[in-house]
Amino acid sequence: MGAVSLNMMYEKLVKPVKAGKEGYAMVKDRDGIILMHPAEDQIGIDVIATRKERHPDFEFHELESLIEQQFANEEGTTIYHSYWWTDKKPQKTKKLNAFSRAYIGEEFWIVAMALSYNELEGPIRQHLVKIVQVAFVIILIISVAIFIILKIQKNKEALEVETKYLKELNATTEELRKKDLQLQHSQKLQALGTLTGGIAHEFNNLLTPILGYTEILKKSVAIDSKDYEYINEIYDASRKAKNIIEQILVFSRLDRNTTKYEPIQVSLLVEETLNLIRPTLTSNIKISYEDSSDGSCIMANQVQIHQVLLNLYNNAFHAMKDAEGVLKVTLSTVKRNEAPENYTSASETEEYVQITVSDSGYGMSAEAVTRIFEPFFTTKGLGEGTGLGLFVVQGIVRNHKGLITVESVVDKGSTFKVYFPKVQGTPSVAEEEKIEFKKLKGLKPVLMVDDNPKVLKVMKKGLENFGLEVLAETNSVEALNIFKQDPSRFEVVITDQAMPDLRGVELAERLKKLNPRVKIILVTGYADEKVAEYMKRMIIDYYLNKPVIGKQMAKAVCDVLEKDY
Ligand SMILES: Nc1ncnc2c1ncn2[C@@H]1O[C@H](COP(=O)(O)OP(=O)(O)OP(=O)(O)O)[C@@H](O)[C@H]1O
Ligand SMILES: [Mg+2]
Repeated sequence: MGAVSLNMMYEKLVKPVKAGKEGYAMVKDRDGIILMHPAEDQIGIDVIATRKERHPDFEFHELESLIEQQFANEEGTTIYHSYWWTDKKPQKTKKLNAFSRAYIGEEFWIVAMALSYNELEGPIRQHLVKIVQVAFVIILIISVAIFIILKIQKNKEALEVETKYLKELNATTEELRKKDLQLQHSQKLQALGTLTGGIAHEFNNLLTPILGYTEILKKSVAIDSKDYEYINEIYDASRKAKNIIEQILVFSRLDRNTTKYEPIQVSLLVEETLNLIRPTLTSNIKISYEDSSDGSCIMANQVQIHQVLLNLYNNAFHAMKDAEGVLKVTLSTVKRNEAPENYTSASETEEYVQITVSDSGYGMSAEAVTRIFEPFFTTKGLGEGTGLGLFVVQGIVRNHKGLITVESVVDKGSTFKVYFPKVQGTPSVAEEEKIEFKKLKGLKPVLMVDDNPKVLKVMKKGLENFGLEVLAETNSVEALNIFKQDPSRFEVVITDQAMPDLRGVELAERLKKLNPRVKIILVTGYADEKVAEYMKRMIIDYYLNKPVIGKQMAKAVCDVLEKDY
């Protein structure tokens, strides 16, 4: 094959293959002789040796290693530094070479494509720039997204904090509102206390002659006569009126100092209250009562314990009002270790009286159970309940050094347990009736002072009925003068508290100065908190709440004379 046909082949087949501006294809045989090349002066020369001769100052070691590679491998690509041999003054340049063998029978040629690395790098760079731009945009989008998410998160957190804060604020406001209501309530009670105190005073003054004279009349008529029955009715009604006044006063005087406590047999109290409610019961409710308290006594205020029991019964009835139900009241004594430990640990008593009031009513949720002793907590409709019932109950129980607990199951019922320290048994109310006042006979006269002549008259008669001599005086200053004349003439003085000139205590103080051994019984319209203080300071020895009847006075005289100083 001649050079012409080779050249023709090159012109036709290889030369049109362009790679960029400067790139070209070339063919060499396996001896390194260039067979085809775009520059004519390159054709037929040794790819390295001839070029070294022509350009002795050029560097060829990268070209040499390319040729070595081309001879050693079937195909490949290489980046290397060489020259554009088609230029007149070839400059060193970075090139990319892709080569492959072309077999001709046993022989092979090497077909190579040389192109400018820079030309190739341009689009790659552009691509890279684009990739970087796209990456940048993606990162930017992700950053913005993260920022937005964080912001939303932060806003959410801020919202949560704000909600929490608002909730707390709400709770505090609610708490304040409750406190305010409580305050209003206690102010109301205070006002009510003052008002009822005043009314009670007036009523008691009116009740004193009624009670006093009926008591006297009862003794003067035959027990089996009709008159006795009528008188008894008046007597009972007046006693009830007295009780009602005391009940009203309980609200405004839940105060240990002015409340009178005495040993009371619990079963009598419970039976009394059950008898009281029985007539009011609707047919759907049954009462079951068990008493194993064995006549145990507690130190208590009768009216207040009545109130505790009646409140518990009322709640139970309300819980059972729409269905059949049983109000179960049990009475027992429990040993220290059978009562709640947190209660007994602070007490020295070994035995307690337990009153259990159970119902089979609608019960309470766990949440309600935690709140029932709060003032104003009620689930009853408007005007149906005040929510004060159990609040007062708890106040009374506490004042009695007692404890109240509750267990409840929704739709099954509730059980309230009230514990009181047991005290040594004393005469029951019935036994008290039998007390003989014989020892009063032959005593020195009692000086009695009250500015209200009607009240004084009935009190005088009441006490005289028990065999005592009474010197009655409406003027407190005059009473003091009488006493002054002979201070040892009287052993006991009974005086009203609210009087013009000298009040009861003032008179008492003066009398005690004249004769320290004299015993003073103060009679008050309604107990104020100072009475306990007077007792403590021994200005007075005893006090009675109006209206007083002869028996109470006689008992008080017995008591003060027995006092051991
Ligand atoms: N035996 C009970 N069974 C079910 N719920 C009860 C019972 N006792 C009390 N409660 C619940 O406790 C709340 C508070 O009782 P509390 O006696 O203090 O007030 P009240 O009964 O609602 O009002 P008031 O006593 O003035 O009639 C009741 O409204 C009721 O929800
Ligand atoms: Mg109630």
